[in-house]
Amino acid sequence: MTTQTVTKGKAAAQTREAAAPAPAASSEAAVKPINRREFLYYIWGASIAVFLAQTTGAIIWFALPRFREGEFGGIFVVDPATVPAVGSAPVPNPTGKYWLSHTPNGLLALNMVCTHLGCLFKWVDANARFECPCHGSKFEEDGKYIEGPAPRSLDRFAVRVITSTGVVESDASGNPVKIDGAVRIEINTGKKIKGPSAGQA
Ligand code: FES
Repeated sequence: MTTQTVTKGKAAAQTREAAAPAPAASSEAAVKPINRREFLYYIWGASIAVFLAQTTGAIIWFALPRFREGEFGGIFVVDPATVPAVGSAPVPNPTGKYWLSHTPNGLLALNMVCTHLGCLFKWVDANARFECPCHGSKFEEDGKYIEGPAPRSLDRFAVRVITSTGVVESDASGNPVKIDGAVRIEINTGKKIKGPSAGQA
């Protein structure tokens, strides 16, 4: 065997080594299973992510209005120029399910539903009062109980009056709100205030 042949043989061996696959140790490291500590770390991270997603969703859910403007359950905007004059017949809003009644003490948005068994009462001009056709309950223009089987005065929706100097809103009892200087009036049909019981009316 010549020296040239030996050199060729070594070169071929080195080429084969270079082309050989990586050692088994490196592929084992790539698929090394996670240990208990890492597993708990990932679980903890996933829990935090889920918690944050739920909290964000809940905040958005409560922050957004659930009803659009002009939809029952939401806000109805009333142009002050369209409010009936004090002492004139109340005006119905069938979509908002309320009667707009302008009394000497201020504005009221009375729920259209009778407090007895839920019939729709009417305004009777001749008697200047609300009368329920079902069982005869009667109420004054401000919703106060007069007579009949109804257990309480009419329910009302919260009224908010915006003027150039501030905001006036219904109190907890839903008493009439003055609209002097109003630039915008809002009826909140999502906020119903129960009328006082018949004995208190
Ligand atoms: S439902 Fe109105 S009086 Fe009965």
